[in-house]
Amino acid sequence: MTASRLPFEIIRDPAAMRAKVEDLRRDGRTLAVVPTMGYLHEGHLSLLRAARARADVVILTIFVNPTQFGPTEDLARYPRDEDGDLAKARSCGVDLAFCPDVAAMYGPGAQTFVTVRELEQPMCGERRPGHFAGVATIVTKLFNLTRPHLAFFGEKDFQQLAIIRRLVRDLDFGIEVVGLPIVREPDGLAMSSRNVYLAPDHRRQALALSRGLAAAAAAVAAGERDAAALLAAARAPFAEAPDARLDYLELRGADDLAPLTRLDRRAVMAVAAFVGTTRLIDNRVLQP
Ligand code: PAJ
Repeated sequence: MTASRLPFEIIRDPAAMRAKVEDLRRDGRTLAVVPTMGYLHEGHLSLLRAARARADVVILTIFVNPTQFGPTEDLARYPRDEDGDLAKARSCGVDLAFCPDVAAMYGPGAQTFVTVRELEQPMCGERRPGHFAGVATIVTKLFNLTRPHLAFFGEKDFQQLAIIRRLVRDLDFGIEVVGLPIVREPDGLAMSSRNVYLAPDHRRQALALSRGLAAAAAAVAAGERDAAALLAAARAPFAEAPDARLDYLELRGADDLAPLTRLDRRAVMAVAAFVGTTRLIDNRVLQP
């Protein structure tokens, strides 16, 4: 790492972004990127701080990517607060904020998509057709525009992280992907930009996700290894959340996301649920 810091800069033009990073790479600087869709919370900020500790130049990208939203999903009402985000970014030591608009990222006639065939099939991929192709495509584009040495992602989106690790290996990006733990509210709810949608009663019922995962972890600690029993433990809190509807709850291998009937290796228990109309996800890594 080299010492001198850059003045904070907001870049909206993809060509300008690429020119900027080419200069920085020529100067021998280490670049880190933290891709986000904005409306930053402590989960995002944990990624920015970790990037700050590892790199000379921290690039935050803010782009609500339309290709990863389904036709009935919340693209139009996805929360936005660019001024607030930029203030938080500066306080975390971000150097460059890349905030392109949709037209700049998807020109007319754009038709090239990146798919990670197997890892995008189960879980959120099954319930949100096309979602991960949208994610893999925009992350590929952001990597090409920011040319980072390091890229930071949260385990909150566990399947997304697995897909991005695979993508980086399969397409020879030569980027170190750093995954960081889920940041939670004091009561256990995983932080999410979408939590702002929750009315107070639904905010309370949303704890069914994290409580269920904690119950499964407690069962593992008590010696339980049977997947059906662990899943039953995780499902129990939903009985007291009348407005929460499970979308899926699964136990899968942590690396390949293969379904497990027994906890016989490092695994992830992953849950998605609608609370009212808000779809939330959470997960917990379980070790036998
Ligand atoms: P977004 O939901 O804004 O999340 C940006 C990054 O923050 C992701 O890596 C996500 O896993 C991480 N993150 C979100 N909540 C977190 C939490 N509570 N604790 C730790 N990390 C958390 O994920 C996306 O945007 C998009 O799909 C994107 C990768 C930017 C592509 O459009």
